[in-house]
Amino acid sequence: MTTLLQVKDLHVQFPAAGSGLFDLRQRKVSAVNGASLELKAGETLGLVGESGCGKSTLARAILHLNETAGGQILFDGIDMAHGSKADIARLRHETAMIFQDPYTALNPRQSIGQILAEVLRVQRKVPAQQVEARVAELLNLVGLRPELADRKPRSLSGGQCQRVGIARALAIEPRLIVADECVAALDVSIQGQIINLLLELRERMDLALLFITHDLTVVRRLCDRVAVMYLGRIVEEGPVRDVFDSPRHPYTAALIQSIADIDPARRLPEQPLPGEPPSPLHLPSGCAFHPRCRHALPVCRETSPPTHSLGARRYTCVHPEPLY
Ligand SMILES: Nc1ncnc2c1ncn2[C@@H]1O[C@H](COP(=O)(O)OP(=O)(O)O)[C@@H](O)[C@H]1O
Ligand SMILES: [Mg+2]
Repeated sequence: MTTLLQVKDLHVQFPAAGSGLFDLRQRKVSAVNGASLELKAGETLGLVGESGCGKSTLARAILHLNETAGGQILFDGIDMAHGSKADIARLRHETAMIFQDPYTALNPRQSIGQILAEVLRVQRKVPAQQVEARVAELLNLVGLRPELADRKPRSLSGGQCQRVGIARALAIEPRLIVADECVAALDVSIQGQIINLLLELRERMDLALLFITHDLTVVRRLCDRVAVMYLGRIVEEGPVRDVFDSPRHPYTAALIQSIADIDPARRLPEQPLPGEPPSPLHLPSGCAFHPRCRHALPVCRETSPPTHSLGARRYTCVHPEPLY
């Protein structure tokens, strides 16, 4: 499989709330702080981590919706973080996003048919006389009746709306879809249906999917690989089964422990570890995880941990050997 996306040592910063635009000592929020990951064509990568760790910011940077402060985002080998207008235009033609809240993601004044037709027109996917047929085809593809084309988003259920959101992403015929918490707002049974739909679409099309979630059970079901994010960095990454069976990073282990202990079907709690996740405004020195890590050594306070490779797996910790 060829590598479609390569993120290397990416940094994204925001001005901290309260510091003025002309404040010379303007403080920065390091939302993404040296994140690296890879996604191959046709592969599904889960991106997990506590709320606020930088998942959405990383996703938006990949789609060129956030400015970056350093690092590279190679899409098909071209660095989009420093891409030309033509490169970014190509990125827009080959990537799509599915959002968390299907209602606010759809224009309430347009009908479902108009929403999908607009993407087809803007992206020049089919000739004008074929737009209607393609809209019907897209609705079919996501398991909706073509008659729904005349309806407005508010007359649909949350699950139906999210199917429209997926149809809109597919209208682009993208090579990469980024789904940011796209089932989090749905009832559990509807979540299952949407996951099944994504599994089916992934089989039928050669789609790469970056699936952001804080639900590890969904990752286990849907994803080939998983990347675990902590305070702006990927701390462990690898095939789902390897990572779930024998986590190497203490943070990954804590996340997995927190679902295994309670009930395998349960969602990952927002706070799986003791203590608050530290703020990206004041990143801890050395390994960012050391204040919450029960395996921390004095050195973890001072220096960044090394990255180890183990087969298809990478993890960044001072301990190269299994701790669990
Ligand atoms: N537009 C923004 N301006 C300032 N800070 C932001 C902005 N977007 C995100 N952040 C901050 O960046 C950090 C990461 O946020 P986010 O990427 O949304 O995390 P996640 O998706 O993992 O919950 C948080 O501390 C958040 O408050
Ligand atoms: Mg988010």
